[in-house]
Amino acid sequence: MKAIALLLCLALTRDIAGSIFRHEYYPKMDRLMVQPLDYNDQQQTTRGEKTYQEIYHNHKHQHHHSSSGSSESKEKPFEDQNNDYATIQTVKNWNTPVFSAIISQDNARPTYGDVITWKGLQFATGPNSPVSDQKDIEKIFNEAYNTMKHFSEEEKKAFHDAYQAASKIENEDVHLNSSQLLKKHQYQVEEHTVKTDDGYFLNIFRILPKQYEYVQDKKDKSVVFLAHGLLGSSDDWLLMGPKKSLAYMLSDEGYEVWLGNTRGNKYARRHVSKHEAQPDFWLYSNDEVALHDIPAMIDYALKISEQEKLHYVGFSQGATNVFALLASRPEYNEKIATVHAISPMVYMTKVRSPLLRMIAPNSPFYERLEDQLGWGEFKPPKELIQSLGGDMCESEIGCKNVCSNVYFVMSSIGDVDIDLIPVIMGHHPTGGSTRQMRQYGQAVASHEFRKFDYGPVINQKVYGTVQPPKFNMSNVKVPVVLYSSKMDWLSHPEDVERLHKELPNAKDHYMVADEQFTNMDFLFSKKAPQVVYERLIEYIKQDSTM
Ligand SMILES: *[C@@H]1O[C@H](CO)[C@@H](O)[C@H](O)[C@H]1NC(C)=O
Ligand SMILES: *[C@@H]1O[C@H](CO)[C@@H](O)[C@H](O)[C@H]1NC(C)=O
Repeated sequence: MKAIALLLCLALTRDIAGSIFRHEYYPKMDRLMVQPLDYNDQQQTTRGEKTYQEIYHNHKHQHHHSSSGSSESKEKPFEDQNNDYATIQTVKNWNTPVFSAIISQDNARPTYGDVITWKGLQFATGPNSPVSDQKDIEKIFNEAYNTMKHFSEEEKKAFHDAYQAASKIENEDVHLNSSQLLKKHQYQVEEHTVKTDDGYFLNIFRILPKQYEYVQDKKDKSVVFLAHGLLGSSDDWLLMGPKKSLAYMLSDEGYEVWLGNTRGNKYARRHVSKHEAQPDFWLYSNDEVALHDIPAMIDYALKISEQEKLHYVGFSQGATNVFALLASRPEYNEKIATVHAISPMVYMTKVRSPLLRMIAPNSPFYERLEDQLGWGEFKPPKELIQSLGGDMCESEIGCKNVCSNVYFVMSSIGDVDIDLIPVIMGHHPTGGSTRQMRQYGQAVASHEFRKFDYGPVINQKVYGTVQPPKFNMSNVKVPVVLYSSKMDWLSHPEDVERLHKELPNAKDHYMVADEQFTNMDFLFSKKAPQVVYERLIEYIKQDSTM
């Protein structure tokens, strides 16, 4: 196995061409999408009314079903004369999933479209692709290209050799989980399981400060909660090792550190009734993570540590979640002493990751991408990863193996030590839902920080409004420090600055000066401790003066 992986590093062929749309449309059975209701919808059904769901709802199709009332009636299953979808609806009670299915007829298959070429890479577009697709591809990829690493042929070779050497070393860190990593370095760790109010079990980690027994006055103890990013896990705060990764540094400073994990990642794949193999396990967006997982973990950590407040450090999605929580449930302002938002994915207008731009509803690729991604776990097929930036990565870096890892493709390779790359790849991606991805795509299109957009009809039912509500940043009363960098594909400094201006109690927006610093570097660059973490710890220490 290993030998195969090694060979994959260097792109041996120049014939790099992937496509979102090239391979066959779903075979017939795959088009039967069985989709249970999510938590919000299920709550509605508990009120006793027989709610029918037109779950799989393409925005484009919605205006054909003039009133949402039609979906409430068993006698009138929703169907659409103008396209080839027919929907079968069923109703069941609370606790039994409610299913809805869509069967697409054969003649609804789009045929293959044109091939668009960008810098020698090919992208097949859908049928009747407008000329503007060429411009879209160019715009999306040029902006990403201009803010990524480019290797000369010699550098590619050097990278390949170094990567190969690093992969050959038996590095156990590739496989160790958070507690094993901590124990290996003689840190005291406890594993805890938190159950959310909607039934997910989250395994989280508590690192006891060195000499915990001697901490006499518990009131003096400071707790820091670390929230991982998109497709990440608690491991991310540990992978560089002691004195380098943030969790170790905080622990060395005497803090009690909690490492959170949110539903769907490798530490949080259990639920009271749902199974990870079924799509309903994955029917959550960041809203559920923010409003169920994060408060459950914060409350739990405060209870066990016997504290009233903790410091919250959120990376990327970890920052998205805390702002959504504080905006929606202001009482959490009392439980958080400071927020440190590293590379926050809140406003996404300037995002450069091709993946997130292509999944935005106003992108010409949206509909077909949506089809390819499905509605369960976010696990794009290999071919899709190539189109979403993998091909570009490969032609610039030359390493097929790294460039077929969705985490590296989504956030672009940073200034990470090559030795660490096999370790990072061993821990990424750890799982997430397509809805989380879609919600970020929606943020790219709407330029706003909103709840999940189910489409006008379901929005009306869930939120009472056609548009999903915005999160109101005026409700975030906690002192906040923001961290961004110019080369970050996921969180653009201008978007972070907009957030900075909207937050009533923002203390600083710190922009990393290093031109080459990327999203990934906030976790994995050798420079991160000095450039980011030391400053962050200083801010936490100053908390009393904030
Ligand atoms: C971490 O690994 C150890 C050893 O295999 C195992 O006992 C433990 O349950 C794991 N922890 C989690 C949270 O997966
Ligand atoms: C946001 O919340 C503030 C109070 O925290 C309120 O004054 C303001 O009207 C709200 N804005 C919106 C758009 O709801």
